[in-house]
Formats: sequence, C-alpha cells, structure tokens
Amino acid sequence: MEEHKSKGGRMDQHGSRYGAVYAQWRADPGAFWLDQARAVDWVEPPRLAFDPAQGPYGSWFPDATCNTCWNVLDRHVQAGHGSRIAVIHDSPVTGSKRTLTYAAMLEEVQAAALALQAVGVGKGDRVIIYMPMIPEALVAMFACARLGAVHSVVFGGFAARELATRIDDAEPVAVVTASCGIEPSRVVAYKPLLDEAIGLAAHKPAACLVVQRPQLEAALTPGRDQDWAAALGAQRGRACPCTPVAATDPLYILYTSGTTGKPKGVVRDNGGHLVALAWSIGAIFGIGPGQVIWTASDVGWVVGHTYIVYAPLLVGATTVLYEGKPVGTPDAGAFWRVCAEHRVTVLFTAPTALRAIRKADAEAALMAGHDLSALEALYLAGERADPETLRWAQGILGLPVIDHWWQTESGWPIAANPRGLGLLPFRAGSPTAPMPGFDPAVLDASGRAVAAGEMGTIALRLPLPPGAAPTLWRADERFRTAYLDEFPGWYSTSDAGFIDSDGYLFVMGRTDDVINVAGHRLSTGALEEAVALHPDVAECAVIGVADALKGEVPCAFVVLKDGGAGSALGRPEAEVAAEVVRVVRDAIGPVAALQRVHVVERLPKTRSGKILRGIMKRIVQAEPYVSPPTIEDPAALDVIARAVR
Ligand code: COA
Ligand code: AMP
Repeated sequence: MEEHKSKGGRMDQHGSRYGAVYAQWRADPGAFWLDQARAVDWVEPPRLAFDPAQGPYGSWFPDATCNTCWNVLDRHVQAGHGSRIAVIHDSPVTGSKRTLTYAAMLEEVQAAALALQAVGVGKGDRVIIYMPMIPEALVAMFACARLGAVHSVVFGGFAARELATRIDDAEPVAVVTASCGIEPSRVVAYKPLLDEAIGLAAHKPAACLVVQRPQLEAALTPGRDQDWAAALGAQRGRACPCTPVAATDPLYILYTSGTTGKPKGVVRDNGGHLVALAWSIGAIFGIGPGQVIWTASDVGWVVGHTYIVYAPLLVGATTVLYEGKPVGTPDAGAFWRVCAEHRVTVLFTAPTALRAIRKADAEAALMAGHDLSALEALYLAGERADPETLRWAQGILGLPVIDHWWQTESGWPIAANPRGLGLLPFRAGSPTAPMPGFDPAVLDASGRAVAAGEMGTIALRLPLPPGAAPTLWRADERFRTAYLDEFPGWYSTSDAGFIDSDGYLFVMGRTDDVINVAGHRLSTGALEEAVALHPDVAECAVIGVADALKGEVPCAFVVLKDGGAGSALGRPEAEVAAEVVRVVRDAIGPVAALQRVHVVERLPKTRSGKILRGIMKRIVQAEPYVSPPTIEDPAALDVIARAVR
C-alpha cells in the first residue's frame, strides 16, 4: 500500500529506521523473513519462506526443522555463556529470590524432559502446565519444547471447570502443577483444583508432576501423581537430546476467550515463533544479550509466553519472573524496587497495574531511594493505555512509555513504537505504527476501507506473519469462521479503531463479546454460562462496564425463575446476588472478578429475542442512548435504569 510507504517516509524524517524496514518487508515479505530467520539455529534451515497451501491461510518455513529449547538454552551454553543469568525469580509473596544461570536452566530442563519422557510424553503429545510464577513453570515449558511435546499453560486464576474444558480439548498425556500459588490474601491450593478438574474431564491424563512448595504440601494420588523434585532427582545429570521438529509443528496451545463459553486453543508453531521473537525483542524492545527485561505479567497469558519466557532467553538476555503484585506486596513501590535491584532495562506491564500504583502513590513517593538509572523504557499492553495513565507514567519516570497492541492470536505486537529501530514521534492514545508482517486496514461492515479518522473493525491482510497463530487446535474450520470469513482475504482482529491521517493506529475496544478486565481477556458468553449455573436463574446478561482501576469489569443482570421448588422469589436480592458471585467464582475462577449482580424482572430485548447488551452498557455507564425501533418492550430499559440507580 502506497499509503504506508509514504507514511514510513514521513516517519523516517525523525531518524527512525522504521519506514525503511517496513518498506523492505513490504517489497518482499518472504525475503525479509528468510533474512530474519538467520538469527535462529536450525537443524534444517528454511529454503522456502511460505507455503500458502498449508492450513487455513498458509504456513511459514514449511521445509525447515528446528528445536525451540535448543535455541533458548543449549546454543547459549555452547557459546560459552552458561554462567550468564537466565532467570531472576523475585517473589515478595514468599520472601524469596533465586537466580538461575543458563547452564543451571539447561540441567533442570534436561532432567524435567527425561522425567516427562518417563511418564510417556513424546513428540506431539500435549502437557498441561497449571502453575504459579515460579521457575519450574519455565523449566516445564522448555522441557516440553525439548521433547517436541506441546505445552498448554493454564492461568492459575482459572478454576477447575475451566481447567477441565482445556484438559478435554488438549487431551494431555501429563499435567505439571504446583501444590499452591500465593496471592497476597491467601494461599491458593492448586492441587485440589486439578483433582477436581480431572474428575470433571472426560479425558484423564496418565500422570501429574507436582512441585511441592513449603507453604502447602499437596496430597499425591498414588499411581498418577509424582513429586516433581523426586522425579527430576532421579534423572539429574543425564543428557536429554533435543528432538528435531518441523518448523510448522506446534510448540504450544494457549487457550483464550472467544464469544462462546468454549475457549479457543490458539496454536503457536516452532519455527515462525522463533523468527518473530528474535526480530521483535530486538527491533521493538531494543533488548539483546546480557540485558534485563522484566515483563510483569503471568506465564498463563500470551504476554508471559512471549516476553517472560521465550523471547528474552532466545536472545541470551535475563528475564525477571516476579511473583507478586504492583501494590500490596508490600506496597506501591514494589515495581521500582525490582527495577532497581535487578538493573532492569525494559519494564513491560499492563496499564491497570500503573493505575493501581497511581491510586496508592500518586506522587510516586515510593520511588525515592530506588536507583532506576538502568531503566530505559516502559512498555504497556494488554488493554487500551488511557492517555492520562500514560502521561502520569511518563511524568514520574521521565522515560519513553510505549503502548503496543497485540493479541493472543498475533503472538507478538501488531503495532508498536519500535525502540530498537529508533523511536517514532509519540501520539498519546495510539500504539503508533504497524510492525513488519502486519498490514492493517480499518474496514466497515461491508469490508470496505473507511476514510482516515473513521472508526471500523481493524483487519490484517493475509497472510499473517511468522509467530502469529496458524490455526486453532484441531479446529481449522473454527479458525476460518472466527477470523477469516468476515472479510475475505483478511484476518479480523475483532478490535475497533481508526487510523489517523498521519498513519497512526488507534485501538479503542472490542467489536465482539470479549471484555478486558485488568488486562485479562474474558468472554461475556462464558460468564453468562457460569451465571446460568445458579439453579434460580432463568435468564441473564453479562456486560463489561468501565472501571477506573481494571479498565472494565463484568456486570450481570439476572432474571429469576418464578415459583416452584428452588425459586429465589421472596429472598433478599443481595443474598441471591452473592450466590451468583460465588457460582461464577467457582466455575471460572477469581479472575472473573464478577462483583456486580442486579436482579431484574426482565431484560430488554429486540422483537427477535436478542438481548440489547450495548444499550444496557450505556445505561449502566450513564451515557445517552436511543431506544431502537426493534425493541420489544421499551419499558424494559427503565427496569435496567432503576436497577443500577
Ligand atoms: N492464581 C490464583 N488467583 C489469582 C491469580 C493466580 N495466578 N491471579 C489473580 N488471582 C485472583 C486474585 O487473588 C483476585 O482474587 P480475590 O477476588 O480473592 O481478591 C482475583 O483473582 C482478581 O485478580 P486481579 O484481577 O489480579 O485483581 P486484584 O484486585 O488482585 O489486583 C491489580 C488488581 C491491578 C493489581 C492486578 O489486576 C494486576 O496486577 N494486574 C496486572 C494485569 C496483568 O498483568 N495482565 C496480564 C496481561 S499483560
Ligand atoms: P489477549 O489476547 O488476552 O492478549 O487480549 C488481546 C486484546 O486486548 C486485544 O484484542 C485488545 O482488545 C486488547 N489490547 C491489547 N493490547 C492493547 C493496546 N495496546 N491497546 C488497546 N487494546 C489492547
């Protein structure tokens, strides 16, 4: 597109190489990515960049073979960097700190790979990892990669039912877990949640490896469960070679929320992922060997997979694994303490974490005494970075604060301000410019590009670049219908936004039923399914409403069954609402963060029965709205207004 070439040209006037690099990619995408592929150690290097015939839209590096674990560990040790720090585990919730060198990680990973092999895990088999933020989570992920097995990490804030859904979809041979996670307010016993999930699931994993933590000992199920330390101890010191896999073979499955209750199993391949990460951590983040990056997210999210686990070690950098919160562990100075203590160069977090810090320490008084001289930039993603929070962060740090936009599906930033290529001029509220490989356009409902400044759905021209999801786990057709059918030739991001006349992209919110709660992606459809588990709920609607701290929070409206046994009629509304909160927490997990539940007599609907969630949201947020002509009963809107008044 000419438009991007000229935009790149304009942006280059500011001294960034971005425009030239983007133009180079556009001129010959295959050559561009084959060139970047030279940063990876291959078993069989790629000769062909892309095969459009494989998968829903094609596959990257179809003739290459590699091993991801080799690239993140062995190659650095072989090059003589074994004594370099790979992982710094900083855990204020347990009061402990631990560092692991590349050599130590390699030893642990080989032992873990052999332990997994001993319970039957081989190439192509799945392993579910349900873990807190401890180094063993990374060890388990790399051990799978070493064997050519496919890991699927499930976020610890999900409850048994969500875990069971993922067990049934991925059909793992083994599960790796820990006895507990530690939240500031409580110890979360993971093992009973896993036992319950396995009980609920139709598929039964053959074995579970359990990391026993001193805070809580888990009971092991004889014949199925093994103590992680003992299982690795039996193997330690033995070598476990890396299994070569096709570049197109899956490295992991990461489940994310879709519009229904059934999560989408986003697949990541091995070769494209390595190439994209090697390019992006240098070009976008400016991180190279020996530097320290701290991504304050969780290994259960894509941000954690990409910039806590894989990309930093791929380039021989040091990653900080932080088991704590931005506030309360012990205070709002925690981020500054960690940055200073570990000489962090790049900090990456979600805007919600900054809002939490700002709320507790608006003047950043707790920054005093922490030497932040190593810190060069702050990166924000996971949700829209509101300009006010962004400006506040810039003010207290005096550093570039870089918003960048991506999704579980894209695997790495679609749009960013690429510090490694030279920063482009900032525009508050915009994650700046598309990265090579991503060619976005803003389309209207009929698939036509809208004018500059006009809102529409952001779509990406196919093919997606290396590192982006080639498909969904065993669900090519769902991939097509979810992402490709809406605009033929394009991938629909389901994000709404616009591109301004200078080419800056603005991402404003989702076009589907996905909501973003404290940087966590949740499906209102899944929340509604959980609310409906309450025996007295006849009907319900869940919407995301604006929240000053978490960006968005879910808000449920429930209509109760009238009469009959189990009816909630006549019971105090608060009692029923509390039960609904409990049911959702038990079904989805604490991460659902559902606190607002309103009991109403009826829901506003169209004559064809569609619940008017958009208007309900406007009512809750006290925004003006127009009653649509198709509404069945206009008075139902007053019911909602009264409920939230
Ligand atoms: N295991 C078990 N429970 C977890 C959990 C985990 N890994 N992570 C969160 N939870 C629980 C919390 O304890 C909380 O439970 P509660 O309702 O009993 O208090 C609940 O899930 C909601 O957690 P959260 O959304 O994190 O809210 P919070 O009130 O505990 O903290 C913030 C608020 C802003 C500090 C926090 O949301 C935060 O740090 N966000 C950063 C977001 C982020 O990193 N996103 C990743 C995408 S980049
Ligand atoms: P996830 O797949 O969990 O990473 O969530 C992806 C979604 O988070 C995107 O589709 C966006 O809706 C939202 N998102 C992530 N980063 C940004 C950002 N920088 N600006 C606006 N929205 C964002």
